[in-house]
Amino acid sequence: MGLFDDVLNAGESLFKNEDALEYEFLPKLLPYREREQKELARLIAPLLEGRNGRNALIHGAPGIGKTAAARFVLRDLEERTDDVEVCYVNCWQANTTYKVLLELCELLGFKFTQNKNSQELIKVIASMVNKKSAVIVFDEIDKAEEFDFLYSLLEELFKKSIIVITNYKSWLIELDERIKSRLTPELIEFKQYNDKETRGILEQRSEYAFITGVWEPKAFDLVVEKAAGAKDIRTGLYVMRQATLKAEDAASQKVTAEHVNAALGNMDEFTIKSSEDLTEEERFIYDVIKQHDGKKIGELYNLYKKEGGKVSYKTFQRKLAALDEGKFVTLERKKGEGGNTTIVNKKITDF
Ligand SMILES: Nc1ncnc2c1ncn2[C@@H]1O[C@H](COP(=O)(O)OP(=O)(O)O)[C@@H](O)[C@H]1O
Ligand SMILES: [Mg+2]
Repeated sequence: MGLFDDVLNAGESLFKNEDALEYEFLPKLLPYREREQKELARLIAPLLEGRNGRNALIHGAPGIGKTAAARFVLRDLEERTDDVEVCYVNCWQANTTYKVLLELCELLGFKFTQNKNSQELIKVIASMVNKKSAVIVFDEIDKAEEFDFLYSLLEELFKKSIIVITNYKSWLIELDERIKSRLTPELIEFKQYNDKETRGILEQRSEYAFITGVWEPKAFDLVVEKAAGAKDIRTGLYVMRQATLKAEDAASQKVTAEHVNAALGNMDEFTIKSSEDLTEEERFIYDVIKQHDGKKIGELYNLYKKEGGKVSYKTFQRKLAALDEGKFVTLERKKGEGGNTTIVNKKITDF
């Protein structure tokens, strides 16, 4: 017996398929989002008849199925036809025009991108897509640092649907007019799930992930309660995994409320969301807010500067608005003696 035999899980794993708890895992069915998927499909459908498609802006809070719904529609489309190129780009990773165009070339199967500039790449993409048509999804579009690629694609591609996804609807307002007037997207709003829907989704996922019966009903109720409180499905997925790991560590055959509470002890909402949803600057600002809760916006800006913050007051305000829409802070308007002022409060679900 070696060292690893001692530390390897002595009992059976409680997981049937741990990967099913990954945020990217795509289940076979996506309940409660039928309307949104249909709307999206309706905008893309003209491409199947050789006509031009329409563009869309999908918006709504984090962790409520925007990415999943878009990927579902793309999967359906790919299964149905080879006549439409299907590209999904995450602008968190591909955040400049050059990177986006490189990624599109790769997705389209064009390999000779070396030494080509953006201008040349866009020509390649157009020549490939314009033989057919294309649906291109830009997820987390607000994370991109430039948007020239949108302009180029809107100009150079004949038949296409361009779908952009964002947590912040305000992204569109700030978009360059010459791009906005060409994009003119249909807005598809994703509303938050209610408690029952949250439970349904987590039940479905736990069927994929766990051996039947290992979750005590009370423990599962607690997970649903936390996920519903955070209004973010990812909270539920995260807590389910951590609680099950705790149970396995304790060689328990069941996941109990105790394991869930132990898992909750190690986390805040930030653990779950921050890496994905916030840029470095936003995270920095958020850290300042965490230390100075309930300050006026101007005071907060001074504190931010003192800590080494660099962005202008205007940008700072914009970042706060984004954090507000992302549900990290709440902005409270107050009438004061010297006119109106805004108070910034951190918003963290109590775990
Ligand atoms: N209606 C649903 N049915 C099943 N799983 C869902 C549903 N909505 C969201 N999820 C799951 O919740 C997690 C968060 O969804 P995601 O699409 O990443 O959110 P968003 O893009 O809005 O931030 C993903 O793992 C996703 O599979
Ligand atoms: Mg997403």
